[in-house]
Amino acid sequence: MTTFIEWLNLGFRWFHVVAAIAWIGASFYFIWLDLSLREPPKWKKDKGVKGDLWAIHGGGIYEVAKYQLRPEEMPKTLHWFKWEAYSTWLSGTALLVVLYYLQAQSYLVGPDTWIQSANLAIAASVGFIVGAQLIYELLLRTPLVKKGLAFALSLVVLITIASWLAHNLFSARAAYLHVGAMMATWMAGNVFWGIMPAQRKFVDAVSNNQTPDENLALFAKLRSTHNNYLTLPVIFCMISNHYPFVYGHEFGWLAIVAIGCFLAWGRHYFNLKHTGSKQPLIAISSLCGLVLVALTLSLTKPETSLVSDASAPTSAAQSQLDQAKLTVKVDQLIQQHCANCHSQAPTQPGFAAPPAGIIIDSLESLTQQSAKAHVAIQSGYMPLGNMTQLSDSDRAILLNWLATNNATE
Ligand code: HEC
Repeated sequence: MTTFIEWLNLGFRWFHVVAAIAWIGASFYFIWLDLSLREPPKWKKDKGVKGDLWAIHGGGIYEVAKYQLRPEEMPKTLHWFKWEAYSTWLSGTALLVVLYYLQAQSYLVGPDTWIQSANLAIAASVGFIVGAQLIYELLLRTPLVKKGLAFALSLVVLITIASWLAHNLFSARAAYLHVGAMMATWMAGNVFWGIMPAQRKFVDAVSNNQTPDENLALFAKLRSTHNNYLTLPVIFCMISNHYPFVYGHEFGWLAIVAIGCFLAWGRHYFNLKHTGSKQPLIAISSLCGLVLVALTLSLTKPETSLVSDASAPTSAAQSQLDQAKLTVKVDQLIQQHCANCHSQAPTQPGFAAPPAGIIIDSLESLTQQSAKAHVAIQSGYMPLGNMTQLSDSDRAILLNWLATNNATE
């Protein structure tokens, strides 16, 4: 059964990645298309065309025309783009359930988060995503929506509060994922509640030779622009689970907001570039901002509280242990706190294979993974959900041992 759940995880993840590529690919393509349209020649204008574009791909030349309203004759087949978005959201939700809800105690609950019960954490997760969706939809209905910069700032404030909350409710890794899931849900909601209804009304109106509601179209366009700026931050959140040194950092909750802002700013550079306006300063400042975040995080200690609490008693305790005793102790700690999951045949229920492909069942294997293991233990990420209840002093023993027995650094 455990292996089957792993297969479900694999299947949903594969589907989710493929669907997201299709969605974001289409979204990038249409944003590029729209911003690259140029004024058509007169004979096309007379037919109602407002934008003209020529491209070559796959050995053929394409002619794209964007109509002001409707073509002279409505085409028999009109392609809609919606299932890319819906299937990405649905498969992402399935993955959330399989990974974070079915295994909530391991993945959703953190060692020192407000909520320690798996069921409560699942309820909090649903509440978090639904609540954030309601707030976003409400914000869209305030006068703020007409002021681009003010709206962007209020979203940044909202995301910052959400990230802080998520880090107190869930394990750090799950917190990043929830910030990503929140923004991805806004994006899917934008398609479902904004863009699709507006497009249906637009097609109805032009098919009946009525003037489509311009406000509705503008509102849909605005939602689609939000999606465009959200894409890069969302993708960052979704791949962040591979990088505990980011989400596991004491200020990880703030770092994600800064990274998201710089990524969206970088996206702005490309949007301007498509319209023909090159502003390299935007790209450069976005890159510098990202480097600055990386440097700040690298130079400050991750999760200092965890380590400093523990180091005082340990350095004294450790000096009493001679080297041989220490080795025996560390070996014991590995057996008790890592090997149950990180071995060829894990004994921990719910694990079919060594997680992340990493085996840590002996001093040698721990040394081989020393750099990664140090980050994972220091940030509190490992042992996962602190299921084996590794004490702070034992954690410090492992960290000190890793610092002196370092194979990879
Ligand atoms: C309850 C099971 C469990 C225990 C106990 C456990 N781990 Fe893990 N470990 C995991 C899982 C699951 C992953 C993969 C998580 C992921 O994909 O981010 C993982 C990933 C890792 C990684 C890779 C992190 C990365 O992506 O860089 C390291 C290193 C690691 N564990 C070290 C340890 C060490 C050291 C211990 C003992 C102190 C330990 N783990 C105890 C389940 C466990």
